[in-house]
Amino acid sequence: MTTLGVNIDHIANVRQARKTVEPDPVQFAFLAELGGADSITVHLREDRRHIQDRDVFLLKETIKTKLNLEMAATEEMLEIARKVLPDYVTLVPEKREEVTTEGGLNLKENMKYLRNFIENLKDLNIKVSAFIDPLSEQINYSKEIGFDYVELHTGKYAELTGYDQYEELQRLIESTNEANDIGLVVNAGHGLNFNNVKKIASINNMNELNIGHSIVARALAVGLEKSVREMKSLIKSN
Ligand code: PXP
Repeated sequence: MTTLGVNIDHIANVRQARKTVEPDPVQFAFLAELGGADSITVHLREDRRHIQDRDVFLLKETIKTKLNLEMAATEEMLEIARKVLPDYVTLVPEKREEVTTEGGLNLKENMKYLRNFIENLKDLNIKVSAFIDPLSEQINYSKEIGFDYVELHTGKYAELTGYDQYEELQRLIESTNEANDIGLVVNAGHGLNFNNVKKIASINNMNELNIGHSIVARALAVGLEKSVREMKSLIKSN
């Protein structure tokens, strides 16, 4: 069965808009678990635009499921992973100016560095995943470098429509099979929402989907009315 990893970065985005203490992603991780999340994902970015170091440490102490730490392959992040000891690390490319992660890792150019980098994590019993585009080349490099998992980038699938989307779906299916055949566990994510998730969830041997933005967006849609009612009732009761 395909499981669900809930990415809570966007909860932290709302907090950081005011640089205050609410909403606290740690508290919302608890709610995500109540709703059935199988793991909690956070991306600790170099610029700390949403998730903060404190969130990652507290999540590791408090969540009941698994912690998936998304990060760039930098020495700074390696030191943090060494201290936090998340269940999984997903390595992602990171550019300061991007709004969100734009593409998969370029494994070919960084093979030696990455092999050494993930060796450090594997020695600590942390499973390591590579966020890659659904391409044979990237799958083979992932295996060669020593990753345990790949996370296939579904951003393109999410953006396309009609026949183009169908073709991208076939690429994702083929990539899942290829990766499985060489012993990699396959996750997928980026841009998945309530309309497009089903076809990806039904890919054979799809292990876990990581979904963030659409879940947080829906939480606002289903929760805002109640929140306004509560505020209105406080004002009225004066
Ligand atoms: N997987 C990875 C590697 C990501 O970088 C992101 C975005 O932070 C996601 C999954 C979740 O994407 P979305 O927020 O579009 O669901």
